[in-house]
Amino acid sequence: LPIFPILGHVKGALLMEQVDTRSHTASIRLGIIGAGGIARTHAGAISSSGQCRIIAAADPNESALNGFVSETGSEGFATADLLLGACASGAIELDALVVCAPPKVRRSVIEPALAAGLDVLVEKPLAADVAEAEALAALASSMPDRVTALGFCHRLTPAVLEMQRLVESGAIGRLTRFENTFAFHHPPKSEEWFSDPRQSGGGSLIDTGCHSLDIFQFLVGTPELVGATFDRAWSGRGDSSATVLVRSAAGPHAGVAGVVQAGWLEPTRFHIRLVGTDGALFYDYEAPEVLLHQRPDGTSEHHAVETHEVRFERQIEAFAKAVSERKSAAEVGLAPFSDGLAVARVIDAAHRGS
Ligand SMILES: NC(=O)c1ccc[n+]([C@@H]2O[C@H](COP(=O)([O-])OP(=O)(O)OC[C@H]3O[C@@H](n4cnc5c(N)ncnc54)[C@H](O)[C@@H]3O)[C@@H](O)[C@H]2O)c1
Repeated sequence: LPIFPILGHVKGALLMEQVDTRSHTASIRLGIIGAGGIARTHAGAISSSGQCRIIAAADPNESALNGFVSETGSEGFATADLLLGACASGAIELDALVVCAPPKVRRSVIEPALAAGLDVLVEKPLAADVAEAEALAALASSMPDRVTALGFCHRLTPAVLEMQRLVESGAIGRLTRFENTFAFHHPPKSEEWFSDPRQSGGGSLIDTGCHSLDIFQFLVGTPELVGATFDRAWSGRGDSSATVLVRSAAGPHAGVAGVVQAGWLEPTRFHIRLVGTDGALFYDYEAPEVLLHQRPDGTSEHHAVETHEVRFERQIEAFAKAVSERKSAAEVGLAPFSDGLAVARVIDAAHRGS
């Protein structure tokens, strides 16, 4: 796992060594649904932010659940229904859920959680298919008093925010292209739920490509599909690599192109480039504290930025702010469910087109 810092496991794993004592005085009470890899990353971020505490977790996998509850000092439940039932009976008290189960497990948890008055932060992608994404986005807009946030955590990456600031300041002229590759080499994906379309909704595109499409949406505009090609290394499984061309549908950067590459059987590359008429900005997640500004005359400048590893902590802090101050996801810099739907529509069009 440590070879995939982009996927968010490194910091969490380190932080999980001991739950910080600040967590015991933190005010927002969380339930975690799905106690696997990313839940541990969230637990580390929750522990360091000190604004929330984990009260309970649910996971049908006994060993994952037992490990998680003993590390976080929380109460364990075999299913999300049992956890929500304990909440309804007053046996436990929660303010919000963080949903970290595979994409197929979304509606069945989020609908009763919102109905029970809980706020929700759900891991990406919003859902395994576009119909579920539509239903969840409609539900969120029908319940504006609830906080409904999607964990497109790269919006909280300091270099991405700095790219946004530099583009808005005109530093690279008129925007012309966005390029983003999130790829790595991990053959065991062929056996994991990530490549089972019934659980995940697809393969590498819906896994890491959904982050890329959201970064495009955040920096450039709402993406619409131009074309997509897939490589499928494993029979009956989702795509092992994907190359997608989008363009911005509207807004100040309408018509700007985006090239998104996702892959599970490739040398590791995690980077974003924004190209404009007067320069380009380049961020490599493997050189995490440098944002490169290239000028057309061949000169370049290095901007110092904070590492991308802070993004999960920033994300939970933003969610805590939304919950405690009754603000929407967008108001605190998080992605609303509607942005998850926009990404789901591109992925659906790409799958159908291929
Ligand atoms: N934001 C990021 O950078 C990032 C990184 C990794 C994973 N993720 C996302 O987080 C989610 C989980 O990924 P992961 O890497 O933690 O996977 P994982 O396989 O490590 O953990 C998933 C856990 O969910 C549990 N689970 C399955 N069905 C469940 C159910 N019905 N109720 C409760 N728990 C259930 C599994 O037993 C497992 O322990 C996925 O949506 C994934 O795309 C996001």
